[in-house]
Amino acid sequence: MIGRLNHVAIAVPDLGAATATYRDTLGAKVSEPVDLPEHGVTTVFVELPNTKIELLKPLGEKSPIAKFLEKNPDGGIHHLCYEVDDIEAARQKLVDEGARVLGDGKPRIGAHGKPVLFLHPKDFIGTLVEIEQA
Ligand code: CO
Repeated sequence: MIGRLNHVAIAVPDLGAATATYRDTLGAKVSEPVDLPEHGVTTVFVELPNTKIELLKPLGEKSPIAKFLEKNPDGGIHHLCYEVDDIEAARQKLVDEGARVLGDGKPRIGAHGKPVLFLHPKDFIGTLVEIEQA
């Protein structure tokens, strides 16, 4: 069911420093910071030839990554995003398999303007998984 790896998201305490690491040390192409208030994050997109890295910094009071950074003050891998062709069909299969969809269980529009779902890390080997309709 899942297709390409769309992105790896890394929560970071210092977006400027993390961007410099990817741009200068690793020589990657990086975007300007983009505020996504509805997701509670500011993001820098790192473009790689075969996938993307998203550097995420908390934005606002109730950021979904604030707690993660409390536990991981140096930052760390926050989630993986896999592409699917049909998010409703994917959601149904996942629910039928017993996987827990986070939030109200319905797809919402993600950072790339496409519908996404997040899946409980306890159902996926300790990894928060995002599913995006590509
Ligand atoms: Co993501």
